[in-house]
Amino acid sequence: MIKTKITEMFGLKYPILSAPMGPFYTTELAVAVSEAGGLGVLSHTNLRGVDSIKTLKESMEYVIEHTDKPFGFNIRTARMQPDAMPLVRNVAKWINKNPKLREQCVYGLTSAGSPRKASETWKKKAPTIKHFHVAPAMFLAQKVVDSGCDGLVVTGFEGGGHQSYEQITTLVLLQEAVNKFSDVPIVACGGFATPEGIAMGIAGGADAIAMGTRFIATKESEFHENYKSVIYPASSRDTLMTTGAFGPIRLLKNKYAIEHGTILSKEEKVSQEAGFTVEELEEEMERYELIYRGDVENGAILAGQTVGLVDKPLEVDDLISGFTKKAEELLKKSVSKIN
Ligand SMILES: Cc1cc2nc3c(=O)[nH]c(=O)nc-3n(C[C@H](O)[C@H](O)[C@H](O)COP(=O)(O)O)c2cc1C
Repeated sequence: MIKTKITEMFGLKYPILSAPMGPFYTTELAVAVSEAGGLGVLSHTNLRGVDSIKTLKESMEYVIEHTDKPFGFNIRTARMQPDAMPLVRNVAKWINKNPKLREQCVYGLTSAGSPRKASETWKKKAPTIKHFHVAPAMFLAQKVVDSGCDGLVVTGFEGGGHQSYEQITTLVLLQEAVNKFSDVPIVACGGFATPEGIAMGIAGGADAIAMGTRFIATKESEFHENYKSVIYPASSRDTLMTTGAFGPIRLLKNKYAIEHGTILSKEEKVSQEAGFTVEELEEEMERYELIYRGDVENGAILAGQTVGLVDKPLEVDDLISGFTKKAEELLKKSVSKIN
């Protein structure tokens, strides 16, 4: 068994987390991942017409009805996310009212903005939540640690979905983070989709591995079958960076991604946002709606370079236990090379 700061912190059988994948639903996926011995994570679900606060509450209640294992949730705390702090405060309230929820909902992952206000709120009002924040570069990782978070998720540029302007790969970021923050629990994320990847991450000092794209293509995930079906044939060359509402976003190439503009510099993006119209923001939300309904031509297909490593659907249980066992064998084999 692989024993790390994170398996110990949450009592996990395997050092595997599902990465959050908002604005979509990952409720069934989270149940399956936690049941399988990993840590399932609910996404910040705010598709059009969805009340994100009501949805997160209902999803949490659903999870604790369907598993007794620990799980987590994501809140994107970006500037353009008005529901972020109401979500942060409500989670604390729900946890305090419901002992089963308090016992199981142990991982609060914030991302895409600052961790500070969430950290202050949960430290005071919901101290049982272990608060982690996504850092795509070391200067941000330092801010996460300084904010009093309990751990870091280092996510590199090869990952799917929204990305930072920094363009640092997971490989480099993980080495930087484990060297600088040897006492901090670290989740490595972005670019993992195989037992080899898990073995590399753990050997490199990560305390757990989070995967997004690989989990989309599981039997239990709620993603549309059309979404899953374009991932299998894709190669690692088939994603591109384009302009998202919160910065660059990695999408699978399709009609929408190719025709959509590309803004990769922060300065250009900030000036674009200053002139954003409600209609332009609505347009992006519409693209998520389209892919949610299975339109793989006009929808935004968020996916990482790992698409090239995913060639068939798997059951979550097989994925988590199978990949980890193979990763353990690979790690033992590596050790046997040392004289
Ligand atoms: C469909 C999709 C939606 C995502 N939405 C979010 C999100 O709401 N919040 C977040 O912090 N990261 C989000 N991400 C990023 C993932 O949490 C994770 O960093 C990424 O999937 C890792 O790369 P991988 O896909 O190669 O595993 C999303 C990624 C995907 C593929």
